[in-house]
Amino acid sequence: MARYSKVGVIGSGKIGSKIIEHILHSTDLELAFVLDQTTDAASLPDLPVGVLTADPAAALATPVDLVIEAAVPAVLAALAPCFLENADFCGFSCTALADPATEQAVRRACAASGHVFYVPHGAILALDGIGDGKALLESVTVTTTKSGPSLGIEEDASGILFEGPTREVCAKFPRNVNVHAAIALAGIGFDKTVSRVVAVPGLKAMQHHVEVTGAGLEWDIRVSSRSLGGVTGAYTPQSAIGSIDRLLGGKGIVVA
Ligand SMILES: NC(=O)c1ccc[n+]([C@@H]2O[C@H](COP(=O)([O-])OP(=O)(O)OC[C@H]3O[C@@H](n4cnc5c(N)ncnc54)[C@H](O)[C@@H]3O)[C@@H](O)[C@H]2O)c1
Repeated sequence: MARYSKVGVIGSGKIGSKIIEHILHSTDLELAFVLDQTTDAASLPDLPVGVLTADPAAALATPVDLVIEAAVPAVLAALAPCFLENADFCGFSCTALADPATEQAVRRACAASGHVFYVPHGAILALDGIGDGKALLESVTVTTTKSGPSLGIEEDASGILFEGPTREVCAKFPRNVNVHAAIALAGIGFDKTVSRVVAVPGLKAMQHHVEVTGAGLEWDIRVSSRSLGGVTGAYTPQSAIGSIDRLLGGKGIVVA
């Protein structure tokens, strides 16, 4: 039995469109709304009439029990606390939570309503292990290597562009370091986690290297995914489907 029946989706780009397609093919779920600033239904051909809106107020007035955001961090910051009054919320643009005011508003809304804010693993792996080992961890360093255009900057950008606390890198590259934010939230937080951003001209892949040390442990996690041409790599839309299915509740043998 699925835990949710009515789902709203914010953002219908690379990640959102895959999630929308998955919900439309699910027999247990109703797609209650799709909120996107560019309401181009042609790119979402199977969408039921009336589901697509560009009006946040209309989306907020639609009854749902789960909202999935795959738009931009500013939208998460503006809308997550409102939706959390009546529904659970899963946010892909989790760099938004590096802003203490946004994190506080989200935590307050969860505490007041009893609803949950989910951080999907997105482009990175091993958030479960980092979260479970949190009490033992001494250092966490995340290095992301992408081409300039994948970072939203000039094509010939090269070398280390940032090295410092994850809280700062989230403000500097809000659309590119969601992996860093998710790791910080799972582990030792935005101020203790160290972030590096490196540009390599012409690089087709998006690479993340996570180095963790702690009492009796040392982990080295490397992830590489082909760029889909924007801020997202080939793996993330697929991983999003897995995350949504886990939120819905498992069936049969479940890996925990
Ligand atoms: N957690 C992760 O590991 C991870 C990985 C990749 C991308 N992301 C993040 O997920 C989000 C979606 O990524 P994507 O590749 O699908 O992006 P995309 O650019 O393909 O799609 C974003 C969609 O959001 C819509 N949008 C933008 N501003 C909006 C607004 N103010 N109101 C309503 N809709 C708005 C756009 O019109 C677009 O359709 C981004 O914030 C991205 O940084 C997270």
